[in-house]
Amino acid sequence: MKKLFIALTLLITGSMTAFAQWGRPVDFAEGPGLKDAYKDYFTIGVAVNKANVTDPAQIEIIKKQFNSVTAENAWKPGEIHPKEGVWNFGLADSIANFCRENGIKMRGHCLCWHSQFADWMFTDKKGKPVKKEVFYERLRDHIHTVVNRYKDVVYAWDVVNEAMADDGRPFEFVDGKLVKASPYRQSRHFKLCGDEFIAKAFEFAREADPTGVLIYNDYSCVDPGKRERIYEMVKKMKEAGVPIDGIGMQGHYNIYFPDEEQLEKAITRFKELVNIIHITELDLRTNTESGGQLMFARGEAKPQAPYIATLQEDQYNRLFRIFRKHKDVIKNVTFWNLSDKDSWLGVNNHPLPFDENFKAKRSLQVIRDFDATADNYVPKDDWVPNPKNQPGQEYPQVNSEGFARFRVEAPDAKSVIVSLGLGGRGGTVLRKDKDGVWTGTTEGPMDPGFHYYHLTIDGGVVNDPGTHNYFGSCRWESGIEIPAKDQDFYALRTDIKHGNITQVRFFSPSLGKMQVANVYLPYGYGKLVKGKQERYPVLYLQHGWGENETSWPVQGHTGEIMDNLIADGKIKPFIVVMAYGLTNDFKFGTIGKFTAEEFEKVLVDELVPFIDANFLTKADKWNRAMAGLSMGGMETKLITLRRPEAFGYWGLLSGGMYMPDEIKDPKCVKYIFEGCGDKENPDGINKSVEALKAAGFNAEGLISEGTAHEFLTWRRCLYQMAQSLFK
Ligand code: XIL
Repeated sequence: MKKLFIALTLLITGSMTAFAQWGRPVDFAEGPGLKDAYKDYFTIGVAVNKANVTDPAQIEIIKKQFNSVTAENAWKPGEIHPKEGVWNFGLADSIANFCRENGIKMRGHCLCWHSQFADWMFTDKKGKPVKKEVFYERLRDHIHTVVNRYKDVVYAWDVVNEAMADDGRPFEFVDGKLVKASPYRQSRHFKLCGDEFIAKAFEFAREADPTGVLIYNDYSCVDPGKRERIYEMVKKMKEAGVPIDGIGMQGHYNIYFPDEEQLEKAITRFKELVNIIHITELDLRTNTESGGQLMFARGEAKPQAPYIATLQEDQYNRLFRIFRKHKDVIKNVTFWNLSDKDSWLGVNNHPLPFDENFKAKRSLQVIRDFDATADNYVPKDDWVPNPKNQPGQEYPQVNSEGFARFRVEAPDAKSVIVSLGLGGRGGTVLRKDKDGVWTGTTEGPMDPGFHYYHLTIDGGVVNDPGTHNYFGSCRWESGIEIPAKDQDFYALRTDIKHGNITQVRFFSPSLGKMQVANVYLPYGYGKLVKGKQERYPVLYLQHGWGENETSWPVQGHTGEIMDNLIADGKIKPFIVVMAYGLTNDFKFGTIGKFTAEEFEKVLVDELVPFIDANFLTKADKWNRAMAGLSMGGMETKLITLRRPEAFGYWGLLSGGMYMPDEIKDPKCVKYIFEGCGDKENPDGINKSVEALKAAGFNAEGLISEGTAHEFLTWRRCLYQMAQSLFK
């Protein structure tokens, strides 16, 4: 549906702004590289495989985005040193050389690990277990060789990887016996040496590289138990003089976990011990798994549901905000793999900011284009219920700066997203608070005025029970009203007289069915003045695509705008007819063939005569205007040009432009109005109005400040245009 709207917006306004706004295939890689965006924060790294450093296109991505590289597998003991005296330096060297040639520094991953390890170190030639002294000798030789070979290009080493036990195992089997679980992983290393192997590995690394940053690296650091085990181990080691410089938090998370509080707790806890933290292996699974182990089937690549992508963008956004907040200790953030295609989690998990075709995802933009001032901004605490709320509903709320906050009860939901978001992002993701209620605030102030929105709960679209519903997007949507500075012009005032809006039903012979229209009748309509009934001019005012005859009177506030203009003496009273424009009845993909011919018949040949027959109208073209917003503007343009005998005043509201030479007889129109929001296509409108004026037409334009393709733009347009009609 959104795609159709894009096409419509483009067609109607010819507006590139609107195009980008509504989802032109944007290149999310456009803009600075991540490394440049984060130059005042930390280095940005990536784990690489062979293809990443040999394929020219992939190399370009690495060079643009990253200033730190980790070899995904090539430097692991089991890969580089599979047997005693056997070294595989091929790929390991080529990755190092790639970095040397391109001036990129490396994280050395990893010198000692239970997995992908050089297991030969534990046994002698006959396969018998060796003593720990022999193991240490071999480990020392291994560490010295690797470190000496690469330390010129390495700034930090993951010296020991994953030595601590996971949460959730209060007991474990050791040598067939159930015992209280040790804080340490029961690796071959630990079984042979106890935790001394950790100290030894760090000592060997320090001997070989006196200046490199030596890191203890692990996953699930945000799990409270594991966090504390790591904390205690590093504390103990440091107290014993073991040269641990920093802690690596791997960061294999998912779109639901961790929350900011869990992450911050780990960072601040580790900060007590070290002043260097690296996020060494960041990726966000789209399932609920996390950590350093793989527990799911990889499967074939399947497209990702849009709401899942939104959850991921939001999670990346939240995590990076916390990373930035702790830039005093966080010195590096490394993505584990370049693209979804490369991911160790399988392409189907879509965990990274580049997709399976190495195209940047919106996640990349979200991470890169952060607003540092917004990072710690606390919205003003003057929240009030949204004026459009249902009776007795406290939420959603708005504040005087234009922020909106939401509260949704959905106790068993996994995710709740509000479709309103900033900068074309997928919306505002709510999080469950301590009471189990979903809450969240827009990331920044919204444009003033009215916005349609809905909720996406676990992928299903529903309305917010907090607010009234408004017809838009071909459905009844929730609506929110962000206070505007000039909101008085459409306010329902207590100090003035009000007209009526009445619904008429008329038979359309051309359609063979009943149609409806809402008719605004100004105050005083039908009253006898000096024994006579006054007759009024009529404005036919059309809604946009996805809307209907209720849109102008309800969210457009036509009645209020007219009443206020009349009461303030700014206009003479006139009637406004708001009919359903048949815009939702044509099929998707046929916008190019949309001619408004059916509606032209209904409007000009059926509705206008019906209105003239049933209401006190001045029934001639110089007392008749037609205007419309968006798709209704397109209808207005088509119909006024084809049937100039029907309407003497024409208005396009974010609904395109007239070119002077399109109007055959310059005398057939007395006044042309064209308007749009300054976030749409103001240049196009301004130029068109100038051209019309230059050609001798009585034309007027309005650019609405701070608004886009939304109802505040059109309310303002109506307010302005109404003052020039029927003169
Ligand atoms: C992973 C690699 O990405 C995979 O290709 C390999 O098969 C297994 O290891 N924690 C670590 C990384 O420290 O080295 C792991 O890398 C992922 C978990």
